[in-house]
Amino acid sequence: QTPSLARTPPMGWNSWNAVGCDVDQKLITDTADAIAANGMKDVGYEYVNIDDCWSLKQRDTQGRLVADPQKFPQGMKWLADYVHDRGLKLGIYGDAGTATCAGYPGSLGHEKADARTFADWGIDYLKYDNCNNEGLPAVDRYRAMGEALAEAGRPILFSICEWGANQPWNWGTSVGGQMWRTTGDITDDWDSVKSIIRKNLTLAEHAGPGHWNDPDMLQVGNGGMSEREYRTHFGMWAMMAAPLLAGTDLAKASDTTMELLLNRELVDVNQDRLGKQADVVAAEGGRYVLAKPLEDGSVALALYNENDYAATISTSAKDAGLPPAEEYTLRDLFTHTEARTTGTLRASVPAHGVVIHRVRPSEAGDTVTPARSFGLDVPL
Ligand code: GLA
Repeated sequence: QTPSLARTPPMGWNSWNAVGCDVDQKLITDTADAIAANGMKDVGYEYVNIDDCWSLKQRDTQGRLVADPQKFPQGMKWLADYVHDRGLKLGIYGDAGTATCAGYPGSLGHEKADARTFADWGIDYLKYDNCNNEGLPAVDRYRAMGEALAEAGRPILFSICEWGANQPWNWGTSVGGQMWRTTGDITDDWDSVKSIIRKNLTLAEHAGPGHWNDPDMLQVGNGGMSEREYRTHFGMWAMMAAPLLAGTDLAKASDTTMELLLNRELVDVNQDRLGKQADVVAAEGGRYVLAKPLEDGSVALALYNENDYAATISTSAKDAGLPPAEEYTLRDLFTHTEARTTGTLRASVPAHGVVIHRVRPSEAGDTVTPARSFGLDVPL
């Protein structure tokens, strides 16, 4: 595998959370056109990924996977060219078992042929699922595809979709993977997001450039959560250095959804070159303080409240890992406003909410209105 893949968390779009099995060529070309035109490409969204249900149920006479000609009349090579022409990359989906989760052909025993097919088509990203695996060891099945991709001679990002039971964070890199799922499937509701965050937060040490924890794709915009819950979902994925794969139909996305997906300051935190997943500085009673050190010496600091009621959460610049200073400048990454503090950070965080600041020692010339010298209360 090319060592330069996924130096920062992969960004893009995937069809599954948006349309499930209803994938087709028009959806993918429309999505590529949208990403190229709506600002997403400019902030870093790059991969356009087809999930399950793209192939025929049978391989061809030479044992190769075949794109369903009803759904993809022009074929995958044409589609890859289309996506590449817009400066984007094309991802596809496969399975490390006898069949995909939706019952299409799996790659178990066909790894080399399938990796070659993907490379021939010009595929840039493979999400490789774990259904129908016959109880065979995950590490062996994923290694077989990792090696096949390496031999196929095209840099293809290898996304390990094993849902955490076999602890892929311990072997994902060794089989050539750039990311691995840490939990079961995300659903479009708060309980799902809350439980995924709890699990994914415990795995921070395994994330870094070229190897990321994947708490699953975004549900932002799909309608099952409140605006605040979607903000928390997106903000926490940014803090956790998670892959940012939008999972909503972009043709129908609301202004609020687009504003969130295009929040460049949060994306910058996610994409920071240090590649650190936020550490839990403190956690008590569903109130969390999280710190993500950034390349420029600042720290992204999240006060996260998973409870069903508002809570005050506080911490200090010191606990967040900032160097001693008389005063700190804080930038709120949702409201895009600045404030100052002598070192205490405190916010009233609403139910299911998160407050995220980028914090650094103040510099002469910082102009902040209004300047506050003790703590910070963030009204939401
Ligand atoms: C599994 C994966 C999902 C999705 C579906 C497709 O459940 O975890 O992300 O790819 O399969 O069938």
